[in-house]
Amino acid sequence: MAQNIYSTKSQEQKDFYNKTAQKYNKWHVEQASAKIVDAWNFANLEKFIKKNKNGELSRCLNLGCGTGRLSHNLFKISGEVYGLDQSNEVLKIAKEKYPKLKLTCAEVVNTPYEDNYFDMVIINGSLHHFFAVEETFAEVNRILKPKGFFILLGEPNAGYLKAYNPFFYGWVVNRIFSKILNLFKVEKDKKPEMIEPDAEVYVPAKLKKQLIKHGFKIKQLYTYDYFHRTENKLALSFYHNYLNFEHSFIAKIFPNMGSAIQCFAIKK
Ligand SMILES: C[S@@+](CC[C@H](N)C(=O)[O-])C[C@H]1O[C@@H](n2cnc3c(N)ncnc32)[C@H](O)[C@@H]1O
Repeated sequence: MAQNIYSTKSQEQKDFYNKTAQKYNKWHVEQASAKIVDAWNFANLEKFIKKNKNGELSRCLNLGCGTGRLSHNLFKISGEVYGLDQSNEVLKIAKEKYPKLKLTCAEVVNTPYEDNYFDMVIINGSLHHFFAVEETFAEVNRILKPKGFFILLGEPNAGYLKAYNPFFYGWVVNRIFSKILNLFKVEKDKKPEMIEPDAEVYVPAKLKKQLIKHGFKIKQLYTYDYFHRTENKLALSFYHNYLNFEHSFIAKIFPNMGSAIQCFAIKK
């Protein structure tokens, strides 16, 4: 992307997250349904590490770390956890909640870390806000140690909202279900919905090619679904079971068609 367009997009993102940091945390991090996805993502990450780890993960980085969601969990698997974000306001919340995190306010395409510094770099639902996929992958390659892990969790799939995709109808049913819950006021403590500024969507096959081009070997890439935000207990227990069912059964028949991409790669 041309430098001036990149700067404009990046500034838009920065202004937005600076303005909405508290709201972001309430809508995307604290809701019970968000916690279910986070726990599911983290369990998959732990499985991957167990299978592929060769020694200790002493230093991990969460790029576009936001208010510290996920980053603090990384202490379960790593001694030092770093977080980088360009928004001061989200970092303030992260610092207050998790003082042990080593936080830096910077641009993702120009990080202050040394070459070959991290054992693992994670991007959780942020790559699509960077508008610089190639540059981000090149930067991650620079700061990761050889054989280091590069993990993408929750990036949007361009093949999702398409009439030929069976998961699309799952999304329709989910929307209807949540409208009904709202209609009968089953949702007592509904937080204000938050629509984030425009972002990119990715074709999984293209993302794979870009990762390979930038020196990564892909170990696993698959998709899963986000459900409508809810605190409803019945919906939540269904959601949790659905994620496992989708992953172990439906996604095997229709690979790479869920709404969010999860990818586990290793630096060559
Ligand atoms: C959707 S939020 C995700 C935050 C966090 N990973 C989470 O899961 O809650 C996207 C984050 O990316 C950050 N961001 C967007 N563009 C960035 C850039 N160019 N450099 C660094 N951070 C950026 C935003 O400030 C925001 O905190």
